Amino acid sequence: MQGRRLEGKTTLVTGAGSGIGAAISRRFAEEGAFVFVLDIDLSSAESTVETIRGQGGDSVAVAADVAESGQCDQIRDQVLQQRGALDVLVSNAGIGHVGTLLQTEGSDMDRLYRVNVRGVFNMAKAFLASMIERGSGHIINMASIGGVVAVRDRLAYCTSKFAVVGLTKSIALDHARQGIRCNCICPGRVETPFVTARLKEYPDPEAAYREMASTQALGRMAKPEEIASAALYLASDESAFVTGTEFLIDGGWSAGK
Ligand SMILES: NC(=O)c1ccc[n+]([C@@H]2O[C@H](COP(=O)([O-])OP(=O)(O)OC[C@H]3O[C@@H](n4cnc5c(N)ncnc54)[C@H](O)[C@@H]3O)[C@@H](O)[C@H]2O)c1
Repeated sequence: MQGRRLEGKTTLVTGAGSGIGAAISRRFAEEGAFVFVLDIDLSSAESTVETIRGQGGDSVAVAADVAESGQCDQIRDQVLQQRGALDVLVSNAGIGHVGTLLQTEGSDMDRLYRVNVRGVFNMAKAFLASMIERGSGHIINMASIGGVVAVRDRLAYCTSKFAVVGLTKSIALDHARQGIRCNCICPGRVETPFVTARLKEYPDPEAAYREMASTQALGRMAKPEEIASAALYLASDESAFVTGTEFLIDGGWSAGK
């Protein structure tokens, strides 16, 4: 058990049955937070919770599709009933699509928008009023390097992640004086099932892996735990003066070619 930088905090992480969300949930629990582990896939959320409880942490699994506002509101009701308030919301759930404009259908745009943008909007909207009423709350959204610079062959994904950055800055600006902080994290490539799935879409997955790793100045992908460290900093009181930022953790990707 490491330090306890989130002792007594109630947190909720979406898309927490896998990859980055699971790593953030584990880290928050290690630091003393109670974690609602939300995923559209309940069994994966339950497996994250099992790991957390196995390490002595406190956590509960909840199932919801973040693209459905009614389901987000139901989760909010459950969280407030069980814990009284939510201190930190991490909207991490997201999906991808590989393709240029010519390789992207309107239905792909709609699918990514529903989860990556409406999902973040729905969760923030569900919890914001209760946070404002209490005079404190922190919303952390998972954007991407693809929300800061264009990434080749990722038209729909980049469009959705640029929107997440805009949404984050708007919430931060509009509600800063009400005790709300809102930030987003922009990872470079991270070794998760999300990336593994993308790699399978290439004719030569091994070559694609090498190419993906090389886009980062550090020449490797990040581990999910490295993104969880950034989420922990943002979730903790150490970042009290940080709001409206896109926190780049990209291995030097955006530093230049
Ligand atoms: N892996 C990367 O290289 C990378 C880089 C930058 C940003 N990101 C972003 O980080 C986030 C997490 O990525 P990951 O790599 O851990 O992905 P992942 O696919 O491993 O995990 C995503 C989780 O979200 C869940 N999910 C998907 N749609 C959902 C919905 N509608 N409602 C609730 N849960 C849903 C999935 O079931 C899954 O458990 C995403 O927003 C992604 O865009 C990932």
